[in-house]
Amino acid sequence: MPKVFQGIVFLTALQYRLGPVWGRRFGSPFTINLPIFGKTVVVSDPILVKDVYSTSSDLIERPTKILGQAFGPGSTFSLTGDEHLERRKLVLPNFHGKRVKNYERLIEEEVIRETANWPEGREFQTLPTMGRLTLNAILRAVFGEEKHALDELRSVMPAMIILGSLLQRLPPIFARDFGRWSPGGRLSRYRHRLDTVVDTLIADARADPALEERSDVLALLLQARYDDGQPIPDRHIADELLTLVAAGHETTASQLAWTVERLRRHPQLLARLTDEVDAGGSELRQATIFEVQRTRSTIGASLRTANQQIRLGDWVLPAGTNMMIDFQLAHESEDNFPDPDSFNPDRFLGTSPPAFRWIPFGGGVNRCVGAGFAALEMDVALRTLLREFRFAPTDAPGEARHYRGVAVVPARGGRAVVYRRTAPASGDRNAMSVVARGN
Ligand code: HEM
Repeated sequence: MPKVFQGIVFLTALQYRLGPVWGRRFGSPFTINLPIFGKTVVVSDPILVKDVYSTSSDLIERPTKILGQAFGPGSTFSLTGDEHLERRKLVLPNFHGKRVKNYERLIEEEVIRETANWPEGREFQTLPTMGRLTLNAILRAVFGEEKHALDELRSVMPAMIILGSLLQRLPPIFARDFGRWSPGGRLSRYRHRLDTVVDTLIADARADPALEERSDVLALLLQARYDDGQPIPDRHIADELLTLVAAGHETTASQLAWTVERLRRHPQLLARLTDEVDAGGSELRQATIFEVQRTRSTIGASLRTANQQIRLGDWVLPAGTNMMIDFQLAHESEDNFPDPDSFNPDRFLGTSPPAFRWIPFGGGVNRCVGAGFAALEMDVALRTLLREFRFAPTDAPGEARHYRGVAVVPARGGRAVVYRRTAPASGDRNAMSVVARGN
């Protein structure tokens, strides 16, 4: 079958959730010939997923040119081998453990600020709000308390991400700078505007006598040292900061809009979650977030390339073979999750999601650096939304998946109808007798 045709069939299959059918039909792995990326082995079986993620990066590597070009040579997305691992050691602690808890207050403030004007009783899209609040939260976490300079980042970043991710799907010639009106030219100009702001923020931070007391990522990276005592060069810090902001908002925003989309179609769950928030609990909320990520992953796959001939399960793959770890196939496999098509957070109650079967943050040496931050953000946002609003259920069919450059988002923007809660609204909830479809 010609490449382009296979590519179209593959993307259509993902769009219409034919993944499990394909998985049953072809097993795991199977090979497909994709436009631009070429011959690709699609993997979803947990043993093979573990194999790919745990194999040393000397043998299997993430193709760096795709995102590296947009973020620059100093970004985690561009680095490979030891250089990449050393950088992760400096970046990762900023988004984990106790450090990440420090961001709780600022996330809650952003949720309250961005939802202050939500209309009552009228349908609207939640995705734009989620986009603004996650962008503001990551900007404040990365650059510290609000500064005028961040306005420029706020206005340029979303446009640059959409353009950059569109270009990464086209042959590289389209990303070349052919002047002001070419797409590549526009991308360079966006990047130049961002660099000007970030360079100023770095210079200001260096001159700040209170730098050592600051807890924003910029201040921490400026003070970080590699094992050999060397600092991260300023140019690399700029690339890394932009990477964190770019990677760290569209994904989380989409996941939050999907959460609203799912919950409005499961009113009994919504009622249980609200009761749990009122009682100060969090277990069901956590399980719900895991289930939203399983059934509506915003990133579809990890891409890898074999640097040398490798063995994968029973197969020998020649050097240069591309591999795609397909999250949706893994998440919708009966072998991984019984009754995979039902949206059922109870499956995760009181337990952690199984490794190499639940993989919305990827795995191995390229596992999402911001997973801890994203998890906290989704938890605090959902807690605050449930505390502040009553979401009217709907019996409308589930929103389709729409691929928007970086993330897979709800096609109608995660529509909601809300009412502000003045007091715990259990009486009101009982009055809402809409029967949701079990999709
Ligand atoms: C729900 C939200 C998020 C999802 C679903 C998500 C998903 C992912 C996935 C699947 C990967 C691995 C890609 C691969 O295997 O090649 C990844 C990598 C990455 N993510 Fe996230 N992400 C999220 C939020 C964030 C946040 C908040 C940040 C920043 C604070 C972030 C920063 C990064 C970075 C820097 C990498 C590259 C890691 C490396 O290559 O070492 N992400 N993310």
